[in-house]
Amino acid sequence: MKPYIGTPTSRVDGSAKVTGAAQYAGEFNVPGLAYACVVASTIPKGRIARIDTSRALAVEGVIEVLTHQNRPKMAGTDKAYKDDVAPEEGSPFRPLYDDTVKFNGQPIALVVAEEWEIARFAATLVRVEYEAEAYATDLHARIDKAFVVKKPDKPRGDAAKTYTAAQVRHEAEYFIPIEHHNPMELFASTVRWDGAGKLTVYDKTQGVQNVQRYVCSVFGMNDDDVRVMSPFVGGAFGSGLRPQYEVVLAVLAARKLERSVRLMLTRQQMYGLGYRPATIERVALGAKADGRLDSISHEAIAMTSQYEEFSRNDTSWSAQLYKSANAKYEHKLARLDVPTPSDMRAPGAATGVYALECAMDELAVALKIDPMELRLRCYSDRDQNQDVPFTSKQLKECYRQGAEAFGWDKRKPEPRSMRDGNELVGWGMATGVWEALQMPMAARIVLTGNGHAEVSCATSDIGTGTYTIMAQVAADMLGLSIENVTIKLGDSTLPQSPVEGGSWTAASVAQAIAVTADEVRKELLGLAQKMSNSPLAGAQPDDVILADGMIVSKEDAKRAVSIADAMRHGGVDRIEHEQSASFKDDGKHAQNTHSAVFAEVKIDGQLGVIRVTRVVSAVAAGRILNTKTASNQIMGSVVWGIGMALHEETLVDHHFGRIMNANIAEYHVPVNADVHDIKVIFVDEPDNIINPLGIKGVGEIGIVGVAAAIANAVYHATGKRVRDLPITLDKLQR
Ligand code: MOS
Repeated sequence: MKPYIGTPTSRVDGSAKVTGAAQYAGEFNVPGLAYACVVASTIPKGRIARIDTSRALAVEGVIEVLTHQNRPKMAGTDKAYKDDVAPEEGSPFRPLYDDTVKFNGQPIALVVAEEWEIARFAATLVRVEYEAEAYATDLHARIDKAFVVKKPDKPRGDAAKTYTAAQVRHEAEYFIPIEHHNPMELFASTVRWDGAGKLTVYDKTQGVQNVQRYVCSVFGMNDDDVRVMSPFVGGAFGSGLRPQYEVVLAVLAARKLERSVRLMLTRQQMYGLGYRPATIERVALGAKADGRLDSISHEAIAMTSQYEEFSRNDTSWSAQLYKSANAKYEHKLARLDVPTPSDMRAPGAATGVYALECAMDELAVALKIDPMELRLRCYSDRDQNQDVPFTSKQLKECYRQGAEAFGWDKRKPEPRSMRDGNELVGWGMATGVWEALQMPMAARIVLTGNGHAEVSCATSDIGTGTYTIMAQVAADMLGLSIENVTIKLGDSTLPQSPVEGGSWTAASVAQAIAVTADEVRKELLGLAQKMSNSPLAGAQPDDVILADGMIVSKEDAKRAVSIADAMRHGGVDRIEHEQSASFKDDGKHAQNTHSAVFAEVKIDGQLGVIRVTRVVSAVAAGRILNTKTASNQIMGSVVWGIGMALHEETLVDHHFGRIMNANIAEYHVPVNADVHDIKVIFVDEPDNIINPLGIKGVGEIGIVGVAAAIANAVYHATGKRVRDLPITLDKLQR
């Protein structure tokens, strides 16, 4: 039997998804369901002086209107609201807790009715009087008040002095605006009242156990009172890492009414959740005339809320990636009257590496060196921050294979030197880097005498293909065909898993399945050895594998016992094991994924309309479990990178402290017409240090560097450097 690992296996949940059999949080129907609708604040800061719900309550079919004044009891400590992914510093938001307004679009009342339309109509009748306070929503106006966030990485050398003395210098400021999550699936929670205070919560989340613990702690409920399920997630990519307010409000209403309740947010209300924070990035590079770097400085100033300190690593990628004896970096936060930002695909790297890789391009222009050649001259086989080697790093191969597939050697260096009819043609490139994280995770395998295995773990599948890679790994480890493996996930009662995030799930869950399968194999071998004249007598567990329904000696394939026979003979019709995988960081290696991204743009010479006509992304991410779903991840990330480069921007009217384009008509994302040719290459990257299977994660690595490659291509096409994203055509005319 051919192994499944490493093959382009189609999604095992694919037909359920395209036929509509897959159910999402807002689709679970339960008898007696009531429907809730949020009333959101229309000021960014102040307090609710009066809230009049009488007209809403008078509407036929309205059951209840909950506000901070009549809500059931909720926990009163910050600790109770700290979920697994909450920022360390700060006081998490508590929905409907009291009369304070912390951001525009904050939920301040919840209308519950017999029907969704009734709830939505009645929500418009709730009257609110505010005592408004002065507020700030503009990062640029708050730079002076930004404070430094403590980060563990240490600077090296004297970056300022060596910068001043450098032969060639480049220093510039880059800007990434607020970007909002727009997953296809709206945030929703369907809470089923199971009687006697027990709840089953279908929630859109990346972490069912995180939500389960959070709900228990916020409402003072027992562990077995709450079960959280999320079998399918229609996109999340960071927005569903923390429990969002819909789950709090739906549970609040269900407990008050002792009835099942569904709350689905509107697209507009989703702009009151987390987002990628607007960030100012300042990069200074000092180099010798031959391109070797003397000095790297990277400072980021990002926004956060008044009540929590959200920050990610934007800056230390710069000093990690390229060889430079001197480096310093600093991350600052400015507090604004907004909801706390959240993770969004490759948080920190998508933004910080955008700035770094545009700066490298600008330095290459100043040095008159080919941009890829400059990266090679600064290439480092060691992590420059920790001064350790990588478990594996095939970035040079990414440059080589990516450049070859793109045809980079045909690039004419001068800006505006390449044309296609009326269009200016630009070719740009950039490096991508992300972490190869792993987290403790557990899996359970139940193997039955009929040759079927059920494999379960509480992880989510946010659309990335987790069901499929779990089935592949289990099928290979247990010697079964993939049709005989059933995967269960997205249920808080299943074996332990952290949130699905950071691109850590594939490596972690694969290892959890592998160590659990080891136990299954051990038990099967024991059964086989109890048979008289067992051909496996004397064999150790590591001497055998499970393949094609057999327990087989690795050395001599003729020494084999059928799994079914071994179980039947032993009088066992079910073998069940649960094991946890944990990962030790030996401290002697850095663990990263890398990529080289090449982009072609064609820009209308008169109108400035930009099209991204080709992207090649060459990725080094260890052993690829599934080349089909992994390519899909990179492709999706490249599309997101096109959006980041050219389209995405949340616009705030600072006069009202309110988002102006809180909808997907005016918040632009790439559509089919914006997406042309995308080629994904996985370079071979053997890694026998990171984990026994040599797996890193893919997904987030796919977006890092894309916006920079496109911005660099726009410069090459036009000779115009636009440093603040998105690159809209008006900026090309300035
Ligand atoms: Mo990811 S931004 O950790 O879903």
